[in-house]
Amino acid sequence: DETKAGVKGLVDSGLQKIPKIFVRPAEELAKDLNYKKAQIEVPVIDLGDLEKTHRHKQIVEEVRIASETWGFFRVVNHGISLNVLDEMLDAIQKFNEQDVDEKKKYYTRDNMRRVRFNSNFDLFASRTASWRDSLAISFLDPDQINSDDLPAICRKSVIEYSKLVNNLGNILFGLLSEALGLQPEYLRKMDCSDGHLFTCNYYPACPEPDLTLGITKHSDLGFLTILLQNQIDGLQIFFQNQWVDVQPIRGALVINIGDLLQLVSNGKFTSNKHRVVANRLGPRISIACFFSGPINMDKVFYGPIKELISEENPPVYKEVLLSDYMAKAFTVGVDENFLVNYCK
Ligand code: SIN
Ligand code: FE2
Repeated sequence: DETKAGVKGLVDSGLQKIPKIFVRPAEELAKDLNYKKAQIEVPVIDLGDLEKTHRHKQIVEEVRIASETWGFFRVVNHGISLNVLDEMLDAIQKFNEQDVDEKKKYYTRDNMRRVRFNSNFDLFASRTASWRDSLAISFLDPDQINSDDLPAICRKSVIEYSKLVNNLGNILFGLLSEALGLQPEYLRKMDCSDGHLFTCNYYPACPEPDLTLGITKHSDLGFLTILLQNQIDGLQIFFQNQWVDVQPIRGALVINIGDLLQLVSNGKFTSNKHRVVANRLGPRISIACFFSGPINMDKVFYGPIKELISEENPPVYKEVLLSDYMAKAFTVGVDENFLVNYCK
């Protein structure tokens, strides 16, 4: 029952030392934390004048370069107002900071449930726990968008943000298609943008931030992730053998390429590793919106896009059945290098 109160429950009990399960082995910490910190910045792309022809071309080019190198970029003037973003962050903070009994109603480790509150969805597949609680909400089934099984305290904001972030996803899949040299509809027609899933993370202030992590080094499984974060630092990208801080910019969203987009782009786009370090300050709040393909997962196959394949560019990945891929993904820890299983 203890675990249902989450990491926040531990912090609220007043503890000064973090429990053993959160302490990462010394060698892993040394390996993970002792890299030098880079002074470079993740690209920021201004989507403001997307409709203007000359600017549109430049934006596609910026998206292409960022997706091929970093696998990450930030967007500003993306069409979602600061007000909506702030309300979404606030709603998730309120969900986490309400009475524990209310949160427990949503506690589950059953991945088939639409709304799931827990700490560390991969707890039983990984060696150490991470310093965060998460609320996962699926928007994979369009019929469920307005259903009232969402927690009342954040329902309105979650529904509103879901619609807007879905629009933005469609715009981004258009740009990414063009950046691959394809028609703008290409990735949307492959159903990449069909549904989305939120993971709303709450990283409480941590009394011993050097001993643990908020989320361990990983790459995202799906096609694309749109991340909203509050003003507390923590997200880092592993780029050119260094860790790069993704400092929060108010109003900006962080976009990253997932493993499936690396796969269908035949390795042209890169799904980069990232992590979240623990922080003495908190809470850090982030809302990751994952686009991971359609709900009828047992019917769709994904492999390298045929237009991107040639004699000089033979396929480097195998074709996968989406349901098999996802089933496998949930049996391994998030830190696993999962895509190697699908190399030719
Ligand atoms: C994640 O990588 O899944 C979470 C990132 C974040 O909280 O910033
Ligand atoms: Fe991630």
